[in-house]
Amino acid sequence: MRACWQRWTPSRGQPVADWIAHAADPVRGRIHVPGDKSVSHRAIMLASIADGVSRIDGFLEGEDTRATARIFGQLGVRIEAPSDGTRIVHGVGIDGLQAPDNALDCGNSGTAMRLLSGLLAAQFFASTLVGDGSLSRRPMRRVTDPLRLMGALIDTDADGTPPLHISPAASLEGIDYGSPVASAQVKSAVLLAGLRARGMTSVTEPHPTRDYTERMLRAFGIDIDYGPGFARLIGGQRLRATAVLVPGDFSSAAFPIVAATLVPDSALVIENVGIDPRRTGLIEALRLMGARIDVQDVRSGPTGDIATLVVSHAPLRGIDVPATLVPDMIDEFPVLFAAAACAEGVTRVRGAAELRVKESDRITAMAEGLRGLGVTVHETEDGADIIGGVVQGGDVDSLGDHRIAMAFAVLAQRAGGAVRIRDIDNVATSYPGFDAQMRGLGLGLEAID
Ligand code: S3P
Repeated sequence: MRACWQRWTPSRGQPVADWIAHAADPVRGRIHVPGDKSVSHRAIMLASIADGVSRIDGFLEGEDTRATARIFGQLGVRIEAPSDGTRIVHGVGIDGLQAPDNALDCGNSGTAMRLLSGLLAAQFFASTLVGDGSLSRRPMRRVTDPLRLMGALIDTDADGTPPLHISPAASLEGIDYGSPVASAQVKSAVLLAGLRARGMTSVTEPHPTRDYTERMLRAFGIDIDYGPGFARLIGGQRLRATAVLVPGDFSSAAFPIVAATLVPDSALVIENVGIDPRRTGLIEALRLMGARIDVQDVRSGPTGDIATLVVSHAPLRGIDVPATLVPDMIDEFPVLFAAAACAEGVTRVRGAAELRVKESDRITAMAEGLRGLGVTVHETEDGADIIGGVVQGGDVDSLGDHRIAMAFAVLAQRAGGAVRIRDIDNVATSYPGFDAQMRGLGLGLEAID
């Protein structure tokens, strides 16, 4: 279905598309999902500041990760793209980045902006980091506070939001930072600044977060000590080029996993997915709800274990999401809310206030969208109660948030009528080709622009 219909978003100044999503066939097939976003960003960053030429395979061809690659081009790094998913990065060394002529545009990507703030705070040149409307509303003090403690000269808008203006600092000092927030982006920003700081830089976290920066720094030859909830390194080390193989992104796999769980008669296989325990809390939560998800053929990869996921339909019941799982599924709450809407009984989420500062306020975005489809939701400061039941057709606004759009596309497969999902262009930030791949699995999903 295609309609001649267009709308303009003032913040982006571009026409935006919508989806019509509706119940269709059982979810069946065997797929690979696109490369991991977190690993792809880090691969470009570390390869750029390494000595020598690195090859990246499985690179996510999404707008977020391409923005990071473009930025390193502006910083004087030659990056070749011989084919989709491959990058050849001619590293310039830890001291080889060049001053950019213009502001560095991180687009929609908080990971790009926060990690780059650490890397650029330690350079002998000035730089400015900007983002789109959503990123320009996101909190940056969580990175600028520790970087300033290290001696960085870095300014935000008065309310702590972008743009970030970085001035050259004489030199940075290592710190011992106890992060108040469980955030891999904060930890990574401090560690990347620490690469060029004097002495030891260490970070401890209130709850362990994904450790890709630590694993990958080690793969690039850095002597780094880390474990669950802590990491430390000594400044002044150099990175050595290496090959990076990016696994499939569990956060992308989460959408077809929930679709196959919700739609009767489904049977789905997803190959080559990264299953880092700091990412896969959704599997535990869905299993508690009654889902049938098998993790098969587990093998170790350079950025953690990789596996084949086998999913079939199962009826779900509501749960209290265990607090300990929350940080391990922080990106998966939109689709968990979708699953909860189809479960029998109430699903309670608490301790998830971080959802309010993602690409959108994901608690309110999901609650409002669900209500538009006839689902009862009670919002709290740090979560929600979702009363499972009948889901109707209707109209929902993704607020330009990729994961909200994909969560409603999945939920619509169980709705009583068609669901119009507004403003879906940003799905390309993390999951290019989502709608075509999902149609191939049997989902009812068409774009209208
Ligand atoms: C990411 C860390 C998480 C996650 C984001 C990617 C990363 O953010 O939500 O999608 O690549 O380090 P926080 O560090 O804000 O928790």
